[in-house]
Amino acid sequence: MAEQTAGTAKLLDVRNVTRSFHVGGLINGTKMIAVNDVSFSLEAGKPEIFTIAGESGSGKTTLSRMLLRDLEPSGGEVLFEGRDVTTIRRRKEFAAFMKKVQPVFQNPFETFNPLRRVEEYLFDTALNFGVASDRKSAAQAVDKSLHLVGLSLEELSRRYPHELSGGQIQRISVARSLISNPSLILADEPVSMVDASLRMAIVNLFKKLRDEQGVSVIYITHDLATAYYISDRIAIMLRGYVVEMGPVEAVLGRPLHPYTQLLKESVPTPIPVDKEAWAQRIGLSTQEVKEYNQIGCKFAGRCPQAMDICRSADPPDITSDGRTVKCYLYKEVQS
Ligand SMILES: Nc1ncnc2c1ncn2[C@@H]1O[C@H](COP(=O)(O)OP(=O)(O)OP(=O)(O)O)[C@@H](O)[C@H]1O
Ligand code: SF4
Ligand SMILES: [Mg+2]
Repeated sequence: MAEQTAGTAKLLDVRNVTRSFHVGGLINGTKMIAVNDVSFSLEAGKPEIFTIAGESGSGKTTLSRMLLRDLEPSGGEVLFEGRDVTTIRRRKEFAAFMKKVQPVFQNPFETFNPLRRVEEYLFDTALNFGVASDRKSAAQAVDKSLHLVGLSLEELSRRYPHELSGGQIQRISVARSLISNPSLILADEPVSMVDASLRMAIVNLFKKLRDEQGVSVIYITHDLATAYYISDRIAIMLRGYVVEMGPVEAVLGRPLHPYTQLLKESVPTPIPVDKEAWAQRIGLSTQEVKEYNQIGCKFAGRCPQAMDICRSADPPDITSDGRTVKCYLYKEVQS
């Protein structure tokens, strides 16, 4: 069991998690560290939206897969409610874990079998998780979840996935994730395949779930606009590392890390106070990065403030006012 002191019980505790992959051929191949020494935690009983943002290939999905127990860390631990998730081996224990930790995926059309009516999939979820013991009580559970996302069982009745819009089907996949009454939802790019005009409606659902259902959400995205709008805290990933993490207003409003600053500078005007206006303006670069294995700071090649020391070893994690920044420009303030 994890060490837990009164009042600081953790829902999720990610401790120095690392994951490496062997890439390339058996002879010429090399090891790349896709997630490197990542730590953060979510408190139990304090629902929040925690965003993980970063460029394509920065390690977001790899991290998320380890949180869902879909991939084993090469190092470090993921504790859910105090238990190391890699020790969950029996089917019954895994089902109990999945009831509490639910994924929402990027492509809602892949979540549903195109040949089955959507409602059947939702009924199966309710019955398989033991939320309902018969079709009548399953219908109640399904209808309740659909209402949370602004839909109803009656509206979906007899419909196949292709008869629904992308926005509708993504709301249904959020409803599906709610059937088991989870305490944590992991949403990996849930709006990237949804029409821009409908994105806010979907991400607003996460706020509603946090406030009205007490569900914590880990929201993974390229899109700083929606992240700024809905998050409580944000972690910025760069080539496997979390380079800055803290309250979203601080990290995106007054970024300390040169990489986060670069992201902010890519916005044409100063950060609007109005979050809706911000939402329309900022976007992350999606350029592919190939320097995972360079020694020292992974941003040194692009950083206008790079120093010799930056290329010698990993920068330290400096923490102040609930924010952590991984950069040689900052020093721990001694109290
Ligand atoms: N199974 C795997 N085998 C080898 N390399 C992998 C594997 N899974 C991920 N990677 C590599 O790890 C790095 C991080 O990938 P990951 O999918 O976690 O990034 P991401 O931040 O989710 O990117 P995107 O925004 O494009 O979804 C990439 O370079 C990717 O090619
Ligand atoms: S550690 Fe050095 S290279 Fe990296 S962001 Fe900070 S100043 Fe730039
Ligand atoms: Mg991904």
